Amino acid sequence: MNSDSKQHKLVILASGNGSNAENIIKVFRETREAEVVQVFTNNPSAGVIDRCRQLDVPCGILSPQTCKNGNRMIDVLEKTQPDLIILAGYLRLIPSEVVKKFEGRILNIHPSLLPSYGGKGMYGMHVHEAVIRNGEKESGITIHFVNEVYDDGQVLMQQKVDVSPDDTPSALAAKIHTLEMKWFPEAIRQLLTR
Ligand code: GRF
Repeated sequence: MNSDSKQHKLVILASGNGSNAENIIKVFRETREAEVVQVFTNNPSAGVIDRCRQLDVPCGILSPQTCKNGNRMIDVLEKTQPDLIILAGYLRLIPSEVVKKFEGRILNIHPSLLPSYGGKGMYGMHVHEAVIRNGEKESGITIHFVNEVYDDGQVLMQQKVDVSPDDTPSALAAKIHTLEMKWFPEAIRQLLTR
């Protein structure tokens, strides 16, 4: 993506807990291959806000109007001059103007092997409950480029995990979480260095 030596700027969008955001901030602080310069959330009570405070990373709150209006969102995002925009548990659809403006530079992580168990309403425990209910033998994570449709863009990386017959949805969620901590920063690193 970039062969010069300037440090890559990452911007993260998150709607909830923020464990992926925290992990990405910490991993790249360690490796210095990139820096998370800004986090944004659409949710004023998201856990990610406190995590950012602890880590001393600015976390801005996007109003519902900004989340819906592509041009307003572009203005906000452009100020941070991101090389990559990372959706880490961001639950809103990205407006098409934003997708076009940052084409190939917005990544999402989804806690299933897409195209299975994706789309609107398929997030968090809903995904793991459905996987267990259907008796799947494996699940995993998908890291993909973002387009105008939920969980639909070109896949950058998938990682799998076995689902055992006695796994509960929370046991599966814990396995998936382990994969996310390991592979999301790695997929970002691979994209930045290719
Ligand atoms: C992760 O499971 C991710 O795959 C999904 O949302 C969850 C976010 O978790 N898109 P957290 O907020 O990073 O803890």
